[in-house]
Amino acid sequence: MRVLGIETSCDETAAAVLEDGRILSNVVSSQIALHREFNGVVPELAARAHLQKIYPVIDAARREAGVKKIDAVAYTRGPGLLGPLLVGKVAAQAIALMEKIPLVPVNHLEGHVFAAEFENRLEFPLVALIVSGGHTDLLLCRGPGRYRVLGRTRDDAAGEAYDKVARLLGLGYPGGPVVDKAARRGNPKAVDLPRPYMPETWDFSFAGLKTAVLYYLRDRGSKKLGLDEIDDVCASFQEAVADTLVTKAMAAARRFRVKSAVIGGGVAANSRLRELSAFRGQELGLKVAMPTPRLCTDNGAMIARVAWHRLKAGAVERRYRSDPGLPVRSWVRR
Ligand code: KG4
Ligand code: ZN
Repeated sequence: MRVLGIETSCDETAAAVLEDGRILSNVVSSQIALHREFNGVVPELAARAHLQKIYPVIDAARREAGVKKIDAVAYTRGPGLLGPLLVGKVAAQAIALMEKIPLVPVNHLEGHVFAAEFENRLEFPLVALIVSGGHTDLLLCRGPGRYRVLGRTRDDAAGEAYDKVARLLGLGYPGGPVVDKAARRGNPKAVDLPRPYMPETWDFSFAGLKTAVLYYLRDRGSKKLGLDEIDDVCASFQEAVADTLVTKAMAAARRFRVKSAVIGGGVAANSRLRELSAFRGQELGLKVAMPTPRLCTDNGAMIARVAWHRLKAGAVERRYRSDPGLPVRSWVRR
């Protein structure tokens, strides 16, 4: 079975073709350059750029896959930015109508969980930590389509905190990869930063940690930070984020007695988060699956993979073929 997956929830226009769950093509066109001068994603600009890119990206994915006929088309239904989501939905719907194939709406977070399945065998139930520019969500997942949201961020998402700290340090956008690189050269114990563990809840909060970096820089007054000092701030911040995320994910795995965990989303490409979760997972006897870094960030393959599970299980309703009222969602219910 061949599934075309379309992802447009934020700032990547992406499409992929899967055959029986395997990736035949995976094309991602990033809008990073477009949003750089604003230090973050501008929803209106993103929607317009998706509109320009969506068909060339889908064409490229189909050409690279080298197949003419597809059996179903999947798109990201949400959560995400409404304008960008609508572009992906309408494109998918048009293809489904023209080619008379099922249309499968997919939850973006479920996509990030199943991105880990391309290179790992997932064992359910599992705890999933999805960390990206827009999300920091802890899920209990009992199988495809069977989720419970345990907690999520009350303010900044982890990736957002990375982006804001990079901006404070003048490191550019997006912050995650640059801070990660600088952190590898720095000393994680150099700056004493808080760990927002919040043990009484499964929710997260990263705004205070970001503000602690701001205060640290402010207290230094007009003295400009040297390159080594920037590396140290990055390393200390990165250690605090990774420690907080991994501590909570491991606590949830223990509490719900699961034997595996998935770490996904753009921030799962982070070197320290990967290292620490693998290390602590081993200590606990927990199997930790992470997508390869290329599949951590938004892509169409992960969306197609979720749809493939649903199609195999016969869980796709016929009305999805052409219902013009099919909604997109900027949020998901707990
Ligand atoms: O999943 P994603 O591509 O898009 C959203 O759904 O948000 O994640 C993008 C986020 C950005 O905030 C970026 O700074 C962060 O992932 N990111 C990283 C790394 N690579 C990307 N954060 C930390 N370390 C990285 N290596
Ligand atoms: Zn994402």
